[in-house]
Amino acid sequence: MKGIILAGGTGSRLWPLTKALSKQLMPIYDKPMIYYPLSTLMTTGVREILIITTPEDLPLFKKLLSDGSQLGCIFEYAVQSEPKGLAEAFIIGKKFIGTSKVALILGDNIFYGNGLEKLLKDNYQPDGGIIYGYHVNNPKRYGVVEFDTTGKAISIVEKPDEPRSNYAIPGIYFYDNEVVAIAEKIKPSSRGELEITDVNIAYLKRERLKVSVLDKGIAWLDTGTFSSLMQASQFVQVIEERQGLKIGCIEEVAFKQGFINAKQLTKLATPLLKSGYGEYLMNLIR
Ligand code: DAU
Repeated sequence: MKGIILAGGTGSRLWPLTKALSKQLMPIYDKPMIYYPLSTLMTTGVREILIITTPEDLPLFKKLLSDGSQLGCIFEYAVQSEPKGLAEAFIIGKKFIGTSKVALILGDNIFYGNGLEKLLKDNYQPDGGIIYGYHVNNPKRYGVVEFDTTGKAISIVEKPDEPRSNYAIPGIYFYDNEVVAIAEKIKPSSRGELEITDVNIAYLKRERLKVSVLDKGIAWLDTGTFSSLMQASQFVQVIEERQGLKIGCIEEVAFKQGFINAKQLTKLATPLLKSGYGEYLMNLIR
């Protein structure tokens, strides 16, 4: 299975913060934002990852993450010249996906919690599509899924004025290879975007969509406003300082997944010793 991180967009809801720098490179406490979704994909077992971003930001992502070999992964890069919608990722990534299945994660979505790794690994090889529902206070800003009394998903609506449930759809999606053909067929919405919700509706209509509810013990953090961006940083800081364990640490995930060995981890840790980040990595080996 291959992975795509969508890290484009204008970030205009966070201007002037993101006017000169990609939103997904903003700090979330001690790491750039993209580390979090990247570590989530790597935890799932995905090693071949396409990072899609704007022409201006692409060199910065390359500088940060290079070709992925340092983490035992393969990173490729592609440009989305305008934010034409999340589903465009499958069109831009068509060649990269080839005949594989694919996981898409949004570059500004942060997941953390007990049971997440097992949940993601269980959905590693989807037959059809697999998405999640997450109970939120105000679902209007998201794709919203409605369930019947047996827990079966019956409708999905993007940013509804009157949501039929409190279950928002987080930005992590698993699909079989058919997703490319589906994305190529959908039409732009009234806001001019190829909507991921329309991809999910297509799978739902074919009865090939599984919607799992994310346990309340799992945190799905938003970074869409100044306030939620700050809260995400505070959340990571509180957990990391209390536990002495990092969230979203790509080097740690690579080591624990067996993508790299202790010698390779030492090489990654050495230039990071001054900030304390490297010391954390060295302790993993000790
Ligand atoms: O966060 C989950 C929500 O993401 C889902 O519940 C919605 O169904 C889905 O449509 C999406 O909602 P938003 O419309 O709020 O997404 P936003 O425009 O904020 O874009 C999400 C991320 O993807 C953001 O980091 C920017 C990036 N992006 C967005 C678009 C539209 C791109 O890289 N390219 C794009 O064309």
